[in-house]
Amino acid sequence: MTLTASPAPPAAAPSTGACAGAEPLPAAVLADIAAGLAAAPPLWRSVVRHDPDGRRPARLLATDRYEVWVIGWTTGQHVRLHDHGTSAGAVVVAEGELVEVVPRVGGPPVEHVLGGVRPRHLAVGTVHDVVNRAAAPATSIHVYSPPLTSMTYYDDDLTPVATDPVAPERPVLAPRAAARALHPSAPRPRQEAR
Ligand SMILES: [Fe+2]
Repeated sequence: MTLTASPAPPAAAPSTGACAGAEPLPAAVLADIAAGLAAAPPLWRSVVRHDPDGRRPARLLATDRYEVWVIGWTTGQHVRLHDHGTSAGAVVVAEGELVEVVPRVGGPPVEHVLGGVRPRHLAVGTVHDVVNRAAAPATSIHVYSPPLTSMTYYDDDLTPVATDPVAPERPVLAPRAAARALHPSAPRPRQEAR
């Protein structure tokens, strides 16, 4: 997938949280946003953290319809079994390699290697874990629609153990800045045309 094939992030006002009751954007749109941003390291290189003491997700971009997080993973780091509340998502690994672990009732978990440019779709209700088993750090781009409001965590037997709210952190990028970076040939607002 090329950068120019990615759509501009859907026009929306900056948001501090999710639109109540909003439907997720289509999977193909989420995938294009994830792939486009993964292919634009200048947008996230300065904010991604690879901290062996713990993951430090950074909220890169947020609108009423979707948000984007960038996460750095050092060797051995993982989340734990979790869902994404009422959000759908797409995740793509921009650097390194991650493994998605999807539990199955009555059987061993299914594992997917996440690497390369192909985003993984996360349907609403997906329960999984993600882990960096590689020797090298990894960087991933996560798109959620509507923006995350909570995540529920599970035991290995898929019993829910906790639901945590997700704070709508101030995003690093303004939507216009991301759209301009993804589509540098697009017309700029008059006051910026020099
Ligand atoms: Fe997840």
